[in-house]
Amino acid sequence: MVNTLWLISFFGMVITGFIPLILGNTALNGWWMILHVSIAPLFSILLAIGAMYSAKKMGIDFNDSPRSELSRSIFWLFLLLFIPCALSILFSMNTWFGSTIQYVFLKVHFYSAIGMLLLVILHFNFLRNNKG
Ligand code: HEM
Repeated sequence: MVNTLWLISFFGMVITGFIPLILGNTALNGWWMILHVSIAPLFSILLAIGAMYSAKKMGIDFNDSPRSELSRSIFWLFLLLFIPCALSILFSMNTWFGSTIQYVFLKVHFYSAIGMLLLVILHFNFLRNNKG
């Protein structure tokens, strides 16, 4: 249940983050921005709950988990990427740093978002192959 809701919210973030750029906007604006930042807290809370549920199953100690090494690496890498993704956008939206650094932070958000999307795609591709 938590995982399904999380996945829906993740795709909400992907759609509202990437579609405006694909449509030719240079940045998020209007409804895209409102939707993106409205889904963000839900996405983050569901990610935290889902991570706590899965952390034991995915065991950071690679010897005592029923899951394969690749699927655990994907899981932990995803959680690791969430840190730059969330912190970069937090830092880019306040005045602690100058505008050049804010721009760099936006790029970090963009590339960590791509990384997270690729890991989710890899995860599902991996699950499908395992079902064989
Ligand atoms: C912690 C949760 C998140 C928050 C608070 C957040 C917030 C934001 C905000 C405020 C912007 C607009 C920045 C600007 O144009 O100045 C943005 C842009 C963007 N976000 Fe997020 N976001 C989050 C997570 C995600 C996730 C999970 C993805 C996709 C996997 C994503 C993808 C994007 C993309 C592609 C952009 C456009 C970047 C660009 O213009 O270069 N975001 N985000």
